[in-house]
Amino acid sequence: MKEVIHTCHYNLYTYDELCEKDQLLVDTAKKATQGSYAPYSEFQVGAAVRLANGIVISGNNQENAAYPSGLCAERTTLFFANAAHPNQPIEAIAVAAYTNGKFTNIPVPPCGACRQVMLEVEQRYHQAIRILLYGTDGIYVIDGGIRELLPLTFDASFLK
Ligand code: THU
Repeated sequence: MKEVIHTCHYNLYTYDELCEKDQLLVDTAKKATQGSYAPYSEFQVGAAVRLANGIVISGNNQENAAYPSGLCAERTTLFFANAAHPNQPIEAIAVAAYTNGKFTNIPVPPCGACRQVMLEVEQRYHQAIRILLYGTDGIYVIDGGIRELLPLTFDASFLK
């Protein structure tokens, strides 16, 4: 028997420690929370992605009375970015969540389905996505891409 351990590596930043480009991405994700359609959970999530050409695209969670029909902020944003700019690799994504009249103090990590979509976006463009998760107490910055958050991945290689 051999034990295998997966580690998850990220850095904790203050807003002021971020470079200007990342500050803008976080600001855009925070602003995007306000456009969320979340009448059921009242949990408003915003996401912003920066494309290789510098363009920033934002989106938010979109809920539905038939709950599973809704979509998280991360996937709304990634799918929209890929639909509008199909040849632009995604360099970074920032996520923020607003509920009970304030931003969460602890960053909201992406759900499993969003992690799976991020994996395929990385594979599509052969490039790790820098992930910034905003909380008022600090910002988690994941440099190593989605593999830090999603070990033992299922991907298209299993289908060949
Ligand atoms: N949600 C996101 O948009 N992103 C996350 O990372 C976590 C959860 C949304 C889905 C749903 O609209 C609401 O937050 C409550 O789960």
